[in-house]
Amino acid sequence: MSAPRGQFSTKFGFIMAAAGSAVGLGNIWGFPTQTASNGGAAFVVVYFVLAFLLAYPALMAELVIGRHARANIVTALGGLSDKPAASLFGRFTGFYGVITASLILSFYTIVAGWMICYLAAAGTDLLGQDQATQWLTSMSTERNLLSSAVFAGLTLYIISSGVQDGIEKWSSRLMPALIGLLLLLIAYVLTQKGAMEGLKVYLLPDLSRVFEPTLIVSAMGQAFFSLSLGVGTMLVYGSYLSKEESLPRMGALVTVIDVGIAFTAGLLILPAMFVAQEAGITITDAAGNLIGDSDIVFQVLPPLFDSMGPAGNFVALAFFTLMTIAALTSSISMLEVPVSMTVERFNVSRPVAALVIGGSIFAISCLLIFNFGTLFGFVIDLTTKYSQPLLGVVICLYCGWIFKRHALLKELQEGQEDIAQTLFWKIWPLYVKIICPLLILAAFWLSLG
Ligand code: PFF
Repeated sequence: MSAPRGQFSTKFGFIMAAAGSAVGLGNIWGFPTQTASNGGAAFVVVYFVLAFLLAYPALMAELVIGRHARANIVTALGGLSDKPAASLFGRFTGFYGVITASLILSFYTIVAGWMICYLAAAGTDLLGQDQATQWLTSMSTERNLLSSAVFAGLTLYIISSGVQDGIEKWSSRLMPALIGLLLLLIAYVLTQKGAMEGLKVYLLPDLSRVFEPTLIVSAMGQAFFSLSLGVGTMLVYGSYLSKEESLPRMGALVTVIDVGIAFTAGLLILPAMFVAQEAGITITDAAGNLIGDSDIVFQVLPPLFDSMGPAGNFVALAFFTLMTIAALTSSISMLEVPVSMTVERFNVSRPVAALVIGGSIFAISCLLIFNFGTLFGFVIDLTTKYSQPLLGVVICLYCGWIFKRHALLKELQEGQEDIAQTLFWKIWPLYVKIICPLLILAAFWLSLG
């Protein structure tokens, strides 16, 4: 006998878990750095449009398939059709999603490990342990192995406890803490010299840049990564959602929270860059463009914290705690994808599945650490630039063309009886079938060019 399937016990629990998956390093680190490297507010405008125009409809496809199938991504996509070929291709797509989620987790674990190092370094600095601080902020292989192992262990611990006692309990605790911390940090940074300059760059768009293909493609990739799309995370969270909740409302709420927190994080990072500039840190390249390197957070923030005097250590502690929390609520959702598949398809107990799969993914993280120069960037590009949008297209197509129409509409009606009067009901089924895949493919094609 297999164990009964987990389910989120409350609406709040689901929202915290799904928003927790969406809100992560991609929001607090990726979005502000991409905004900086893509010229500021123009990127913010395009990102907002694409998040609601492309990512929200694709998120809905995952939620509705997941809740209908009440299963992991492989079983869910495979079960949408009785035709052997379509069913096989669905299972293959699901499996590709599982592999992609696992690969994303393998590099995410390394980056999250860096957050833990800087968190620990704020502590050792406070205690005057200079050698330890230096080691923690170095890029040594040993440091990366240790910090990734710590982060992988935390993820594994939460996932082995299941849906309610693991995912829901920890997301509900960690997400509010994250939002509170973020707001406190913004309040502090905005009182500093230089912050207003950063706000201007962030909020006043140069509209002539809005149609640049590279900007559009980056914004689409960012929106897909940020909403955890294409790899079955949202599908499996949807499968744990009760039939009493309205899917379009839940999906909209998760999208608004995700976009809102990315926007809020920008209010911290961009002003912080200009505050750092006041303290003598270089934030522009030779051509005068803002530096948007992925490690800008490490270049800009630690000196900023230092410049705050003794309080800086506490602010650093708060910030890197926030980053670690955000990463953890995302990493648990990634690990849930292969774990749910293994538990349901191979009838293995959850802790055993979590241990074996978590261990294997950590082995991939080690491989990336040992071959950092060649593999790290390659895996990030492969999974986020190519696999996620492509998988998103197939999931939209399965939702629009393979999912039986009456079953799809019935699923949408669960939890929202008046849905037939909404704009969503009139537009979305056709939109997800034709327009959304075409738009994603068009942007994808632009990126190849
Ligand atoms: N949405 C997460 C972030 O913005 O950091 C990253 C992510 C989580 C991607 C879960 C994919 C995934 F399945």
